[in-house]
Amino acid sequence: MNPKRHLITAALPYANGPVHIGHLAGCYLPADIYVRYLRCKGEDVLFICGSDEHGVPITIKAKKEGITPQQVVDKYHKMMGDSFEEFGISFNIYSRTSKPIHHETASGFFRNLYDKGVFTEEVTEQYFDEKANQFLADRYITGTCPKCGNENAYGDQCEKCGSSLNATDLINPRSTLSGEKPVMRKTKNWFLPLDKMQPQITDYIESHKDWKTNVYGQCKSWLNQGLQPRAMTRDLDWGVKVPVEGSEGKVLYVWFDAPIGYISATKDYFQNPEVRSQHPEKNWELYWKDKDTRLIHFIGKDNIVFHCIIFPAMLMAHGEYILADNVPANEFLNLEGEKISTSRNWAVWLHEYLVAFKGKQDVLRYTLCANAPETKDNDFTWKDFQARNNNELVAILGNFVNRTLVLSHKYYEGKVPQADEYTKSDILLLEEISRFPARISESIEAFRFREALAELMNLARAGNKYLADNEPWKLATTDPTRVRTIMKISLEITANLAILMDPFLPFTAKRLKEMINLGGFTWAHAGRSELLAPGHKMNAPELLFDKIEDPAIEAEIQKLKDSKAVNDAIAHTTAPAKAETNFDDFSKMDIRVGTILEAERVPKTDKLLKLKIDTGIDQRTVVSGIAGYYKPEDIIGQRVSILVNLAPRKIKGIESQGMILMAENANGELAFVSPSKEIVNGGVIK
Ligand code: 2FM
Ligand code: ZN
Repeated sequence: MNPKRHLITAALPYANGPVHIGHLAGCYLPADIYVRYLRCKGEDVLFICGSDEHGVPITIKAKKEGITPQQVVDKYHKMMGDSFEEFGISFNIYSRTSKPIHHETASGFFRNLYDKGVFTEEVTEQYFDEKANQFLADRYITGTCPKCGNENAYGDQCEKCGSSLNATDLINPRSTLSGEKPVMRKTKNWFLPLDKMQPQITDYIESHKDWKTNVYGQCKSWLNQGLQPRAMTRDLDWGVKVPVEGSEGKVLYVWFDAPIGYISATKDYFQNPEVRSQHPEKNWELYWKDKDTRLIHFIGKDNIVFHCIIFPAMLMAHGEYILADNVPANEFLNLEGEKISTSRNWAVWLHEYLVAFKGKQDVLRYTLCANAPETKDNDFTWKDFQARNNNELVAILGNFVNRTLVLSHKYYEGKVPQADEYTKSDILLLEEISRFPARISESIEAFRFREALAELMNLARAGNKYLADNEPWKLATTDPTRVRTIMKISLEITANLAILMDPFLPFTAKRLKEMINLGGFTWAHAGRSELLAPGHKMNAPELLFDKIEDPAIEAEIQKLKDSKAVNDAIAHTTAPAKAETNFDDFSKMDIRVGTILEAERVPKTDKLLKLKIDTGIDQRTVVSGIAGYYKPEDIIGQRVSILVNLAPRKIKGIESQGMILMAENANGELAFVSPSKEIVNGGVIK
């Protein structure tokens, strides 16, 4: 397909905290590279984003900070928008879902489906926190994921295995408001019958076998499990009001309203009088309803189901909209070997980075792209960041450009020289240069941005090799004619670099273009060797990059060590005392001393081990969420305490007959509870 226009969206981030490197690497940077590339090619492209200002993440943050949800979103919307702009993320609009245009659009969309009879109205039992006097939707409830055993899964999603959940799926549910076990209470909600839509959704996914393996694979796995109806409304007061009678106290499910945010942000963009006068022939509907628009959603892997199944189902049910042609989701970026965590302050915040590394936005863009979590989770380390800057940006790209420009100024006062005859190797090099744009394009178009960036660096490497092989500085006095040719070719490589680096390193590209006075060229001109006419005057050169010294890196590592120290201190805090119980209740529990006889990992889970325990009474199977702390081979023979009269339950298809008692630090670290001297298996713990 050769689309007439491109609509590129980047996931609307929750406005509940500042932007960190994980956000940037996960979706905003790849989206921006893609968009900048399309713009360089002169394509019609619209890049849409905004803050996701509804949903439980916002109200939880408000409670934590002791301010209103509106104050939370006002504060973070501004901060996030500023960070994106500072890092050159070139949205056409960064809108927000608290705007009236969004409320109207989302509520109109819901009403459209409602009037068509798409939703099923159901009274179901939902979790309710009696203490907080509130229904517990989505992130107000946590518990153990039935799919992977993660004990901190949310009511709508498990961030560990990416499964989309209903709150009632969780094992051991707990309210995040009060920590209490919730009760069930009846309430009416409107459901999207994904089960009935499965054939259409399957056709859609099957027509996109070209999607990234991680994305297509996740979609297939949901389809294989069978789609379930999903409630599109919630008993909450923060969000878009449900526009039907009898829905007081209910709002749209945040994952219903947020993707509609892409549509309302597009409308918002076209409401701007300046945009309308510049493009009177365009409007939001062209981008959302015309078959010649190519829609692409850039997201992180935790958003796959919502963008590949639920949102397309909503659009299909509506009927007037185009569907995404691709959803290039990235995996997660870790930091120094650990999961990025806002609550544990284990992150590199963009606004803090800019204080420490003023003007070095492109260095971070480069590092995050070179090491992007495109096919698997990846790790950001400060040492790697330093090495990428010093050994690649400074030593390869910066070095080539600087040598070329400094010599040109020295020999020709900044005027582009006229080349003489090309040698055979010159011709071979020029041919090689001409192939770079297509190679970089091919990688970008396949969403392989690391590969594309590596190619760009190969062009700079080719330039360095050319200078090293030809050593113009040695010929300056003996063979000035040859030197002119060498410098002309080096300047052409520089001009090509200036064009081709634009999507990746926009700030550097701009500076370099200014230095060599290069204007008006697009991607289509790259690969040529007549970008700079003989006699063309260039401006004074400056270093593109400078070395990052150890102290700057050590300061960042120290910051993380400080966070770790705080986290460790928290780990030593004591959990609050539970409510009083009585001896009768306690004595109902039959807790025995046992021994682990066998242990193995439960396939496709991170946390679960399948254990065979000798309880003294019998030998039985117990599934336990300890794989994060113990290897199966290390715990054979371990003495344990086991609750033997817990009702059996199925975990991952395995019947677990009891529960191993574990001691836990506040940071989740686990240890076995075992007798301090020899007690036989079956010994009673009382
Ligand atoms: O995961 C998140 O941060 C969500 N706020 C993403 C929403 S994407 C879209 F649907 F708006
Ligand atoms: Zn899970």
